[in-house]
Amino acid sequence: MKSGAITNSPEVFLLDFRNDMIPAVLPWLNDEKFMRFSRHAGKVHTYETQAEYARSFDWSPSYYWGVHKNKDLELIGTATAIVEDGVADIGLLIGQSGMGYGKATFQAIMNYLFTFTNIRKVTGGTVEENVGFSICCLNSGLSLEGRRPEQIVIDARPQTLMLYGLLKRDWKQFEASR
Ligand SMILES: CC(C)(COP(=O)(O)OP(=O)(O)OC[C@H]1O[C@@H](n2cnc3c(N)ncnc32)[C@H](O)[C@@H]1OP(=O)(O)O)[C@@H](O)C(=O)NCCC(=O)NCCS
Repeated sequence: MKSGAITNSPEVFLLDFRNDMIPAVLPWLNDEKFMRFSRHAGKVHTYETQAEYARSFDWSPSYYWGVHKNKDLELIGTATAIVEDGVADIGLLIGQSGMGYGKATFQAIMNYLFTFTNIRKVTGGTVEENVGFSICCLNSGLSLEGRRPEQIVIDARPQTLMLYGLLKRDWKQFEASR
C-alpha cells in the first residue's frame, strides 16, 4: 500500500520505499549487532531480497517507508506498518540511533494512520532488552498490553516479548493532553 509523503513531523518525513533506497539500507540490515532485536536478524540481505520484500507491500494493506531527516533530507532508516483487521503493527529501523528520530518516526506514522486511514489501533512489539523501542512506544501514548516471558531466543538467551498498543479513541485523548 502506498501512502504518499508523510510530512507531519518537525524532525522527519517518510516516503514510500523505493529500490533506489536499498544501497543505503543494506549495511544496517546486515549489521548483526544492530539488528539483534529485529525479526529480520540473522538473514543475509541483498539488493534482490530487499527488492522482493519491498514488492510484497505492493498489493497488501501494509506500508513500507524510507525515513528521512527534514533538516538535510538524508535517508536515516525505514519503517513498516503491518496492517491486519484494522490494526497497524509499527516496526522501525533507524540507522542514526539515539537522536530522537525513532520516536519522531513512530509518532509521524501514528498521526498519518489515525488521521487519514481507517486504522483503529496501533501496536508495537519488541523484547524487553530493546529499551529504545519500548520508550518510543510508551512516549507515543501506547500502553503495555502484555508480556510473553521467554518467548523469543536472541543470542542463545530466551527473551521476554513486550506488547504495546493504543486505540484511536485513546490517541485522541493523548494528543489533547499534550
Ligand atoms: C529501536 C530503535 C528504532 C530506536 O530508535 P532511536 O532513533 O534510537 O530512538 P530515539 O532516539 O527516538 O529514542 C527513544 C527513547 O529511547 C531512549 N533510548 C534509546 N536507546 C536506548 C537505550 N539503549 N537504553 C535506554 N534508553 C534508550 C532515548 O533516550 C529516548 O528516550 P526519551 O524520548 O525519553 O529521550 C533503533 O535503535 C533501531 O532501529 N534499532 C534496530 C532495529 C530494531 O530493533 N527495531 C525495533 C523493533 S521493530
